[in-house]
Amino acid sequence: MKIAVIGTGYVGLVTGTCLAETGNNVICVDINEAKVEKMIAGEVPIYEPGLDVLFHRNIAQGRLSFTTDLALAVKEAQIIFMALPTPPGGDGAADLSYILGAAKDISKLVTEYKVIVNKSTVPVGTADKVQAVFKANTSIEIDVVSNPEFLREGVAVDDFMKPDRVVIGTRSEKAQKLMTELYAPYVRQGNPIFFMDERSSELTKYAANAFLATKITFMNEIANLCEIVGADVDAIRKGIGSDERIGKRFLFPGIGYGGSCFPKDVQALAIAASTHQYDFQILKAVMQVNEKQKTVLVDKVLKYYKGDIKGKHFALWGLAFKPETDDIREAPALYIIDELIKNGATVTAFDPEAMNNVKAIVGDKISFSQNQYETLENADALLIATEWSVFRNPDFEKMDELLTNKVIFDGRNLFDLQKMIDLGYYYNSVGRKLIS
Ligand code: UDX
Repeated sequence: MKIAVIGTGYVGLVTGTCLAETGNNVICVDINEAKVEKMIAGEVPIYEPGLDVLFHRNIAQGRLSFTTDLALAVKEAQIIFMALPTPPGGDGAADLSYILGAAKDISKLVTEYKVIVNKSTVPVGTADKVQAVFKANTSIEIDVVSNPEFLREGVAVDDFMKPDRVVIGTRSEKAQKLMTELYAPYVRQGNPIFFMDERSSELTKYAANAFLATKITFMNEIANLCEIVGADVDAIRKGIGSDERIGKRFLFPGIGYGGSCFPKDVQALAIAASTHQYDFQILKAVMQVNEKQKTVLVDKVLKYYKGDIKGKHFALWGLAFKPETDDIREAPALYIIDELIKNGATVTAFDPEAMNNVKAIVGDKISFSQNQYETLENADALLIATEWSVFRNPDFEKMDELLTNKVIFDGRNLFDLQKMIDLGYYYNSVGRKLIS
């Protein structure tokens, strides 16, 4: 099939590349000329495991190309994916200007039937709005389909190639047929495609993200309670996770959820509900608790040093909002850096992928190391903000030599408690016994 993908962010680029991988002809469009030039030259603009191999293979085989020319892409394509940003607007609700603007541009270019697929996370009713834009600008028949993306950064390629499910919101039989054909190679293993109306599909995406954010937040609160009553959140996680109704996944407490989706989507859903006069109380609580959870690690540091960390030097492992990505949007590490500096401390950080992105924001307010051990030189304590695999089994002998004090504040529960007792560390993790 001939496909156009408008927008080459995380979702657009992964979607375009993975659609090319099963034999489709995909043109990706972006207004950013410099970015398009780089992609044409063979540069993958994001770090996403497994993407580069597919990217280069499909370019080489002529199935994946890049352009700034929307007209060219629209002319060729039977199906046009919109993967455009929906950032929070001034009121916190999703800003639809990119989507509606692109819809208007496309509507002036279509000369035959097309399926317009919305991949971005958008409020309920957006498909109707997009359809209205087309109606206002062209008499050509088109169908607007909602097809939310559930991919996780870091495993996005796998999530696209083998999705748990595909959700497609359309009431058009013609669009349904084309979408079924397009997704057939991805659901060969028997995972379902759910067809539903556009509004249900749009809300499914918000419901999924808000539910997962709530699940994590619930565990963060259980962890906080564990610390107070002297229980172990790991034991509780296993104890409840083996109940299939709860499930083992997404029960890991930490220092708050971050990233490009959860914070924005929880907020957008709460606001969307309130514009329909519905008070979505649980989501308000989730947002409040998550904001507070971002502070727990620094609170523990301040408590340990009796409120005075002026002149102290900290090593920080992990900057990305989660492992296997260079994405630092809403990353708890950014809050930690701000607070440590504000309180007069200095920081040396290491992250396998996200250091350049952080440098672009904090400049020389902190220093960076080329590996995790260098950060420890003369550090009063180590803070862990992201659970990269390389941090899980470090060389503790080397660490002992470098750290001024054997003190670790771990926001991701990387180490075994008994091991930390044996090694003689002060080890403060989340929802587990304090080793001191
Ligand atoms: C999420 C959804 O999972 C995905 O389906 C959607 O399409 C986009 O949003 P992503 O933002 O890439 O994906 O990250 P995810 O792996 O879901 O993690 C989100 C946040 O939750 C991270 O900050 C992570 O550290 C945190 N998290 C996750 C926990 O704190 N505990 C967990 O058990 C799981």
